[in-house]
Amino acid sequence: MNEHGDGQHGRKLAFFTEADSVAVVDARTASDADPRVREIVAVVVKHLHEAVKELRLTPEEWFKAIDFLTRTGQMCNAWRQEYILLSDTLGVSMLVDAIHHDRPEGSTENTVLGPFYVPNSPRYENGANINLDGKGEPVVVRGRVLDQDGEPIAGALLEVWQANADGFYDVQQKGVQPDNNLRAAFTSDANGAFWFRSAKPLYYPIPGDGPVGEMLAALGRSIHRPAHLHFMVSAPGFDTVITHIFTPDCPYLTKDPVFGVKETLIADFEQVDDPVEAERLGFTAPFWSVSWDFVMAPKADA
Ligand code: BEZ
Ligand code: FE
Repeated sequence: MNEHGDGQHGRKLAFFTEADSVAVVDARTASDADPRVREIVAVVVKHLHEAVKELRLTPEEWFKAIDFLTRTGQMCNAWRQEYILLSDTLGVSMLVDAIHHDRPEGSTENTVLGPFYVPNSPRYENGANINLDGKGEPVVVRGRVLDQDGEPIAGALLEVWQANADGFYDVQQKGVQPDNNLRAAFTSDANGAFWFRSAKPLYYPIPGDGPVGEMLAALGRSIHRPAHLHFMVSAPGFDTVITHIFTPDCPYLTKDPVFGVKETLIADFEQVDDPVEAERLGFTAPFWSVSWDFVMAPKADA
């Protein structure tokens, strides 16, 4: 664009041309528009136009894309967020997180939140069994919440959620699973410790009956998330950790459709064949045991 607001070869930017398409669109933005909104729209338009030009996209293909996005929106409701699923499966959720959560070495890494987090989970005392439908293999989860110096963080809130042994979250099976099955909040004690009983997580398919499922099928991609437990750990003055722990023996660890696996998040799940300890925990032997410490980084502005 020159000083008269003209495009390539002096053409006026009032009218649309393929060559000046980006500049023509940008030129319509009011000069007093919010600078960040201007910047975001300008960059998105630049890359979108570049993609359309590189692909020589046909009108039929563009209508298909619009239909795909329309159906993605129509699939969304209070318990189904197909746009989050689209962001996750395109790697965008993990990328935004990676850019903004570059924590000091040794801190627990974040991973994808996913669509099944529900705020205000029921609070339990440490030791509670959150496996309300009793399905799956029993597991005891123990750990501590620590700061960068290895000092305990007392009073941290640990929110936990996972799918049941049939591969569904409670919110996907309202009226089938007990409400808040495998979903809970705990508080770390004076030593930063927490513990609870649950079911060993299993791999499960992300919802595949919508546009995102169609896309993954067309690309020959797996829809199975490797087995994991979700955690959100928060404490005043610390960067909230949104993460999972993964079982090490899952065949889908390297095929996660949402790219959520990080090597540092793969835990040791030990099988324990001890009838006395099992009885003490209210389990039958053998059962699984996993220990996991969360190391929190200070909040960037703390
Ligand atoms: C989950 O682990 O709950 C999840 C994450 C991303 C997409 C779908 C499910
Ligand atoms: Fe999950």
